[in-house]
Amino acid sequence: MSVTVLVGCQWGDEGKGKIVDILSENYDIVTRFQGGANAGHTVEIGDNQYILHLIPSGILRNNVKCVIGNGVVVDPNALLEEIKLLKQNGINVEGRLFISHNAHLIMPYHKLLDSISESSKKKIGTTGRGIGPCYMDKYARKGIRIVDLLNKEILERKIRDNLEEKNTLLKKVYEHDGLDVDKIINEYIQFDKAIDKYITDVPLMLNNAIRDGKSILLEGAQGALLDVDHGTYPYVTSSSPTSGGACTGSGIPPNKITSVFGIVKAYTTRVGNGPFPTELANDEGENLRKEGAEYGATTGRPRRCGWFDAFLVSYSAMINGIDSVAITKLDVLGTFKTIKVCVGYKLNGKSLNSFPTDVEQLNNVTPVYESLDGWMEDISECKSYDELPQKTKDYLEFISDHANIKIEIISVGPKRKQTFTVN
Ligand code: GDP
Ligand code: IMO
Ligand code: MG
Repeated sequence: MSVTVLVGCQWGDEGKGKIVDILSENYDIVTRFQGGANAGHTVEIGDNQYILHLIPSGILRNNVKCVIGNGVVVDPNALLEEIKLLKQNGINVEGRLFISHNAHLIMPYHKLLDSISESSKKKIGTTGRGIGPCYMDKYARKGIRIVDLLNKEILERKIRDNLEEKNTLLKKVYEHDGLDVDKIINEYIQFDKAIDKYITDVPLMLNNAIRDGKSILLEGAQGALLDVDHGTYPYVTSSSPTSGGACTGSGIPPNKITSVFGIVKAYTTRVGNGPFPTELANDEGENLRKEGAEYGATTGRPRRCGWFDAFLVSYSAMINGIDSVAITKLDVLGTFKTIKVCVGYKLNGKSLNSFPTDVEQLNNVTPVYESLDGWMEDISECKSYDELPQKTKDYLEFISDHANIKIEIISVGPKRKQTFTVN
């Protein structure tokens, strides 16, 4: 029996989807515990590429059950679209997909309010999937949950109550015409038929599975620095992607978690706005984007790229309680003659002892770099740690020491076979 939490250790897009797909071979259940269709988890199998937004990446392995936990915010349209795409590719989700009755629903007004707030001056650069407004309603205790789909009268009443308030806000504050309440009620009533069969008492299911000795992988979305508490607030998402969120978002108690596994990209990327001390706004950054095909899997936006930030990853390892990590996209660094690694920050000439999450400070820090020789080789065909060039091993050792992480898995390409463990 093992219950492993898998988390992104930077600003998302570390390659979680690929590694979850690999690891899920050894798990009975894969569970998402936070976020929503803002995630874009890419898995390449043979010539096929799958981008999963809501359904755990374990769905691509037939023997694995997949769970959407209560901490996730579910957009029914996105969910049904994803189920349809999987079916078209011969992947059956029935009897394998389970959704918590306590997960909150993304409503049309959440997406509208997301886009309205993004048109203001203080842009976060969200994915526009309604994530922030949905979590706002959850914590304001006004949210509509999956369980509400099961009772038409309750669903209708809750939608009417919400729309009354939202339409007042839309009309009086945002000069918007407001949304048609009956249209939304009719649309959401239809979802019951399609989603009913997946609705499950997830905490009971997962705790029974643990009792029966089954293994569970908890798949985080986003990354630690996008965590609403521990990230670069306010330039964060509205959930808890750090390992602590795995318990509240699934109903698995903390003393049942057996390990925490981190996914770490061999350099750094970020989509959307907010501080990024090691960002390369130059040709090197452009090269990283080109070599790493760094474009958002959900929005297609170019990702901002920069050097590996060991100071940031060591903070992430502390906050998450990381036991070991997978280093992904190591192959992408193969054309760089010199590779820099940030080992600390200076603020007003003084070295900082701890990672500052305060945006004002982060915007003003100067990264302290050490330079390493690049290996200038294509390593995407390497099948083991021993086959890696010495300079690649030196790089791995350097980042492992400075970020305080134990490297267990290395990924040198998007495919399953481009992955090996460190002996
Ligand atoms: P996630 O959100 O953490 O699941 O990551 P994304 O799927 O958004 O972004 C990672 C991208 O890198 C995807 O296009 C993957 O196919 C790709 N990828 C994953 N691991 C590797 C790797 O080791 N090397 C290369 N070149 N690409 C990788
Ligand atoms: P995966 O799971 C990278 C970013 C957005 C924005 C901020 C808030 O694929 O790693 P939101 O729509 O969540 O309110 O946007 O968070 N963001 C991500 N960046 N990867 C993701 O997911 C992200 N999900 C949200 O770009 O800056
Ligand atoms: Mg992604």
